[in-house]
Order: sequence, then C-alpha cells, then structure tokens
Amino acid sequence: MKSNQLAGYDEFAGDIQEIIITEEQIQDRVREIGAQISEDYRSKCPVLVGVLKGVLFFMADLLRVIRIPTEVDFLAVSSYSSEARNKGVVRLVKDLELPINHRHVIFVEDVIDTGLTLNYLLRSLREREPESLEVCVLFNKPERRLIEIPLKYKGFDLPNRFVVGYGLDHQERYRNLPFIGLLTADAFSNPNHLRECDERH
Ligand code: IMP
Ligand code: MG
Repeated sequence: MKSNQLAGYDEFAGDIQEIIITEEQIQDRVREIGAQISEDYRSKCPVLVGVLKGVLFFMADLLRVIRIPTEVDFLAVSSYSSEARNKGVVRLVKDLELPINHRHVIFVEDVIDTGLTLNYLLRSLREREPESLEVCVLFNKPERRLIEIPLKYKGFDLPNRFVVGYGLDHQERYRNLPFIGLLTADAFSNPNHLRECDERH
C-alpha cells in the first residue's frame, strides 16, 4: 500500500495491502456503542470483562466513552492442543479478580470468528451466576461461526479474511495499528519480520 495512505504508519507500507476499516470509522462506532451501553445500563454499574491481549485497545476506548459508573476486569487464556482448541476449550491462565455473582456483566471481545472460545468462556462465567451476561464485540466474522451466540452490541461485520490492527495481531505484531488492515501475502507468510525486532534491540 502507498505509504502516504497509511497516515504516518509508513513503516508498514510493505505489510498492509488495504485498510478495510479506518481509524475514524472505528472511533465513531466505539462512541456509538459506548453511548448505547451508557443508556442501557444506567444505575446498574456493569462489569466489563475482556480477554487479554487483543481486547486491550477496544476496552480502553470503549471505557472512555461510557458515561456511567463502570468496572473492568480481565481474563487471560492459553490454548491447549489443537484438538482442544477445535472444541474451544482453553486454559484460564489469569482469572477475574472481581466476583461477578449478582453483577451485570458485559463480555467485551475484539473479534469473534468461529465463536468456540467465546462460547466456552461464557459458559464458565454463567456458572458464577451473574445477574445478567451480554456480549459486546467490535469485529464479527459471521461466515465462520460454528455456534450461534447472541451479540447485544456489535461494531462491524468482517469478511472471512485475516486482518490485523486495533488489537488484532499476526504473531504478536500489528496490534498498535489504529485501523483494520489486510496483510500482504508476504507479510503473512514471512517469518523474517520476527527477527527484525531482535536486530533492533
Ligand atoms: P474463535 O471465535 O474461537 O474462532 O476465536 C477467535 C480468536 O481468533 C480471536 O480471539 C483472535 O485471537 C483470533 N482471530 C480470529 N480472526 C482473526 C483475525 O482476522 N486476525 C487476528 N486474529 C484473529
Ligand atoms: Mg480475543
């Protein structure tokens, strides 16, 4: 992509094929979702729960535009074998710090693809008997969904393509881009870019 279209992120010109959602579109949509949550959860002091690390950017921006008292907490998971992963079973490596029974919980996700991971985590949260449990997702990939999950708040539908930016990574890179972009085939398959960081230490 031409570096002058990358608004200051020209170091990534060789890696990004196309910007499919701009920073402005993301920020506008996040503001709308925040306003809706502020209205729906007035006097309820919801707990926003997210899974590290992808949701970091969305969570921070969303919290800033919610205008009611709110709390936040995080889970961290790691995958087991690929077989377990295919069932959505993940290992909790960091649990919530807040008790959520009798609380209004909003599960905030950056992206839902098959829905398997989210389904598994929702089941685990439901066992703790929250007063209510809803899902707020910024990027939804409906084509690959294996389990139907009701989404109370949704930012954008995405095509079935691998994207990066705004928290989404490829081998831990690109999370810091403020837009959603398609990777070039080279950047997708080129393992050299990992070495690049070591050389810069
Ligand atoms: P699933 O919904 O269980 O298939 O899992 C979705 C997870 O896959 C997300 O939490 C992301 O970590 C990852 N993921 C799915 N699509 C993308 C993408 O386009 N870019 C980067 N990560 C993705
Ligand atoms: Mg995630």
